[in-house]
Amino acid sequence: MRMVDIITKKRDGGELSPEEIRFFIEGYVNGTIPDYQASALAMAIYFQDMTDSEITELTKAMIGSGTTVDLSAIEGIKVDKHSTGGVGDTTTLVLAPLVASLGVPVGKMSGRGLGHTGGTLDKLESIPGFHVELTTEQFISLVNRNKVAVIGQTGDLVPADKKLYALRDVTGSVESIPLIASSIMSKKIAAGADAIVLEVTTGSGAFMKSEKDAVRLAETMVRIGDRVGRQTIAIITDMSQPLGFAIGNALEVKEAVDTLKGRGPADLKELVLTLGSQMVLLAGRAATHTEARRKLEEALESGQALARFKQFIASQGGDPDVADHPEKLPQAKYTFELPAKTSGFVAEMAADQIGLAAMLLGAGRATKEDKINFAAGLVLHKKVGDPVEAGESLVTIHSDYPDVNEIMKKLYQDIKIRDHAKTPRLIRRIITD
Ligand code: URA
Ligand code: CA
Repeated sequence: MRMVDIITKKRDGGELSPEEIRFFIEGYVNGTIPDYQASALAMAIYFQDMTDSEITELTKAMIGSGTTVDLSAIEGIKVDKHSTGGVGDTTTLVLAPLVASLGVPVGKMSGRGLGHTGGTLDKLESIPGFHVELTTEQFISLVNRNKVAVIGQTGDLVPADKKLYALRDVTGSVESIPLIASSIMSKKIAAGADAIVLEVTTGSGAFMKSEKDAVRLAETMVRIGDRVGRQTIAIITDMSQPLGFAIGNALEVKEAVDTLKGRGPADLKELVLTLGSQMVLLAGRAATHTEARRKLEEALESGQALARFKQFIASQGGDPDVADHPEKLPQAKYTFELPAKTSGFVAEMAADQIGLAAMLLGAGRATKEDKINFAAGLVLHKKVGDPVEAGESLVTIHSDYPDVNEIMKKLYQDIKIRDHAKTPRLIRRIITD
């Protein structure tokens, strides 16, 4: 088999065989196929698309490129959740202990943040003492005991994706639905999920800017999940503005705790209940959607979910007291208010740009090597659609820098106030097979 024939076949719109797909992935990972041929094929796939059979074979070949995590020692149906990314996305911090408190096992591999999006690991590590370095045995035993544990992605999980993603990133082929679908699904399956709940975000803060593309990606992943025997459900959500109010690591931990105490932002709570009820259903812990949602609401109201959060934090070395004493979390040296210049309605809060502003304050990384300032970030006081009076604070800026004039100027550009505005619908669609 020759790589050049595979490239030209795809370039001309042909369907690749399972053997051709495996030849490519194996050769690319072991170094016999060079970057330039892999990038030519990725671009051909970008333009010609792939059939479901091709995407399924690609997903399987990528899974086979490294080790897979065996979670069979964990009792129950392991349901994993994945989001294609957002700004101020505090969901996992609330969702994991909440569904765990209903007996759904959550053994989660999470990532770090890059650019305008944050990562769950960084958020958790803002809790003094919390660490994610667990052996597989410790991880499994914690999930069996507490039903929840979070670790970092191990080095050898889907090496084909690491290599291919880095290549796509610098050759203009990230935005390809078959490549994104196989990238995400291969990692979830290799990490040991029995069933998968996907949140596919749309809007300025998301990968998929248009809802139409998000739906296409979601439908593709749901079909691939089906073909590889992992029940998959996708929720399409609006990420045109940040989720909740807090953006920044310690600030989001506090927001997660508030939500677990039943007084968090309405949008975050709604998303958690929507994703959570799908997870509870897939795990077989409720018979109907209504029952699943009611159980989740009860776990929030009774304090059962909050208790599970504290147990989870303490089991990984963190100080569970942060839940009752948020002042124990890292605090920024300074806070600044951003007063509205005019009265009206908040018409726009550009998620990607606001995420970038938080990153510039130190809440995120511009490059993988950057160090994070856990205390830094933003707390919004308004959501799109809210009325605002001139002089009212739109945002509190938490910063260790005494001068935030440039950030303020930027935020004034990112937040638009007009005569009228509509509240966007957060949950756009639920896609099942
Ligand atoms: N996220 C992933 O994990 N992979 C992609 O290809 C795009 C987004
Ligand atoms: Ca948030």
